[in-house]
Amino acid sequence: MGIELNQIYKKDCIKGLAQIEPGTVDLAFADPPFNIGYDYDTYNDRQDADKYLDWSRDWMSGVVKALKPTGTFWLAIGDEYAAELKIIAQNELGLTCRNWVIWYYTFGVHCTKKFSRSHAHLFYFVKDPKKFTFNDLDIRVPSARQLVYADKRADARGRVPDDTWILRPQDLPDGFKPDESVWYFPRVCGTFKEREGWHGCQMPEQLLGRIIRACSNTGDLVLDPFAGSGTTLAVAKKLGRQWLGFEISKEYIARIRKRMKNISSGDPLDGTEKPLTSVPATPDKPKRRQSRKPMSSPDNQDLFSLIPKNKKSMTG
Ligand SMILES: C[S@@+](CC[C@H](N)C(=O)[O-])C[C@H]1O[C@@H](n2cnc3c(N)ncnc32)[C@H](O)[C@@H]1O
Repeated sequence: MGIELNQIYKKDCIKGLAQIEPGTVDLAFADPPFNIGYDYDTYNDRQDADKYLDWSRDWMSGVVKALKPTGTFWLAIGDEYAAELKIIAQNELGLTCRNWVIWYYTFGVHCTKKFSRSHAHLFYFVKDPKKFTFNDLDIRVPSARQLVYADKRADARGRVPDDTWILRPQDLPDGFKPDESVWYFPRVCGTFKEREGWHGCQMPEQLLGRIIRACSNTGDLVLDPFAGSGTTLAVAKKLGRQWLGFEISKEYIARIRKRMKNISSGDPLDGTEKPLTSVPATPDKPKRRQSRKPMSSPDNQDLFSLIPKNKKSMTG
């Protein structure tokens, strides 16, 4: 590889991607500019539509070349170009879409002349529809059968989230459940401890955690061509993956390097994935069970320990 692993490069990703040895990346996650006029420090996010699509075609084909034959590509994109980019990925680049996930978030920008946007599209593509990594045990969530209904038939390992996520049901107790098909993570807003504070598009670590755990293994190479605040790279490092990123902003690069320096493999992800309010309200604190380890991920193990004791015996 003309480029070293576990590095963030100040580079236009199209140039950077061309320098990666083809067929070496296990998982790519890209959250490109959406071409909606967002105010980045150097990039101009208002291009002519055709120019934006040609550019998208270029960097996406660079990602596809860099991926292993068993590789996975997740693309985060807004409403404006979701349809076009999905078609380019499938029809021109030969990828298979395994899920069209909706990331539902709160704390979006408030609109007064139309409904405020509260979602982004997350496309889950693979190169080979028969050979790919999907670690279901690492991302399961407690099911409603376990948490709410104390159903004896419930699978003790929980269930794989549907294609709309809610990781923190306590923020939306009457809305989406953790195993439903709308993904819910709050955006990283101003008051959140996790917020780096210098990049308006910082994604939550828990969202990347789910993707990286599911679609890569320890030691695999995770690539982000649009590193932004460095969330993908930070989560990859914490989860023991190798990482590689590109970013064109000098300022963002310096801050990403600092962020990466301050974390180590094995560190916990920022934010919580504990579904506290799905547990029926009771004055008793849910008791933590130490012995039960249904999941290979330590974080998920913690999440399962929140199922109240009186319900655990019912989960089979
Ligand atoms: C939406 S942000 C990514 C946010 C990131 N997912 C996070 O969690 O922080 C897109 C980033 O792409 C960068 N960018 C734009 N054009 C680029 C290019 N050609 N190569 C590399 N980075 C680019 C922008 O500077 C911006 O920081």
